[in-house]
Amino acid sequence: MEMNTKIVHGGQHPDPSTGAVATPIYQTSTFAFKDAEHGARLFRKEEKGYIYTRLGNPNTDMLAQKLAILEGAEAGLVFSSGSAAIFGVMLGIAGKGNNVVSDNIIYGGTYAQFMKVLPKTGISVTLIDTTDFEKLEQAIKPDTKLLFIETPANPTLKIVDIAKCAEIAHSHNIPLVVDNTFATPYLQRPIEQGADVVVHSMTKYLTGHGDSIGGAILGTEKLIKELKMLNDLGACYNPFGAWLTLRGLKTLAVRVERHSENAMEIVKFLEAHSKIEKVYYPGLTSHPGHEIAKRQMSGFGGVISFDVCGGREAGKAFINALKLCIIAVSLGDVDTLIEHPASMTHSSYSDEECLKVGIKPGLIRISVGIEDVKDIIADLEQALNKI
Ligand SMILES: Cc1ncc(COP(=O)(O)O)c(C=O)c1O
Repeated sequence: MEMNTKIVHGGQHPDPSTGAVATPIYQTSTFAFKDAEHGARLFRKEEKGYIYTRLGNPNTDMLAQKLAILEGAEAGLVFSSGSAAIFGVMLGIAGKGNNVVSDNIIYGGTYAQFMKVLPKTGISVTLIDTTDFEKLEQAIKPDTKLLFIETPANPTLKIVDIAKCAEIAHSHNIPLVVDNTFATPYLQRPIEQGADVVVHSMTKYLTGHGDSIGGAILGTEKLIKELKMLNDLGACYNPFGAWLTLRGLKTLAVRVERHSENAMEIVKFLEAHSKIEKVYYPGLTSHPGHEIAKRQMSGFGGVISFDVCGGREAGKAFINALKLCIIAVSLGDVDTLIEHPASMTHSSYSDEECLKVGIKPGLIRISVGIEDVKDIIADLEQALNKI
């Protein structure tokens, strides 16, 4: 099947018992056993079947299978959030006493997990610029158990070379894990480019409508089987959430196309505006990662960042003057969302750290929605006129 067909039909079939075309919601915490022996057989894994939703549910299983198909992975596991999925990778692949190497530009919540949570589990994290391959080679030590990258990265849209990182990771016998939240499998499939594991915040484009928080890990059958122990962590996705993500996924292709088209128009508008200092978007030929993005992505996505002339205060005045764009964190929703990374999504970075990695005090991040682009531009324009 081609990608658009996989997005609609992959892993989903009419319900065999009723013929329902839309997937039924299995909103149940537990499943009845035929008798005591049946329950015992399921627990001993001698027979396949559902036991308890934290350990497996038709909606979450279907979602994991569908995402694996879309990412070109063998299997998947879904979680209550993207952050839980990332933690699952860290705990399940790196583990106590070991090290993880990652980029210094990542989502602020992942950064906080790396800085505050992982040290409590005995996992250390080394953050570097993974586009500097020499530094990357030096950062990987004998106790390093995985390389984790996010591309495009939140919030500066930094592009990291997946194929090159996979080559370096494999030369050290460690896996490459890619957070593919910004691109989605519609625009970028890291496993096809050599990565071993993909993680997602399904909260974003995959669910697409800003109505559920969820996460996923996609990889080989062997890895996913090992990571099933994470069911005992308790961060399971709920059946209705999984149903919402399955429903959202059906329109992933058309939504991402529109998000990307709208973003390109907005980038042109911002680039030409006298009150905009700099625009960060991988579709711009001036973006340092443009050539790599062109190679590893089939489109540039719906997130743009930009610096407004006048820094933090001007940025604040600008977003406060918006009428249509909603001031909110998160991204990938059908609604246009706008936020100030330094004081919101990336407030876990100190001001000095922000500056060091290129998150300027006045940087604004916009997740372009699927509204008429003229209306979004008119809103941005009237707000810029006020500063
Ligand atoms: C790139 C990226 N990865 C992971 C996460 C965390 O996902 P969640 O909020 O679903 O825990 C986010 C959230 O914004 C993100 O932007």
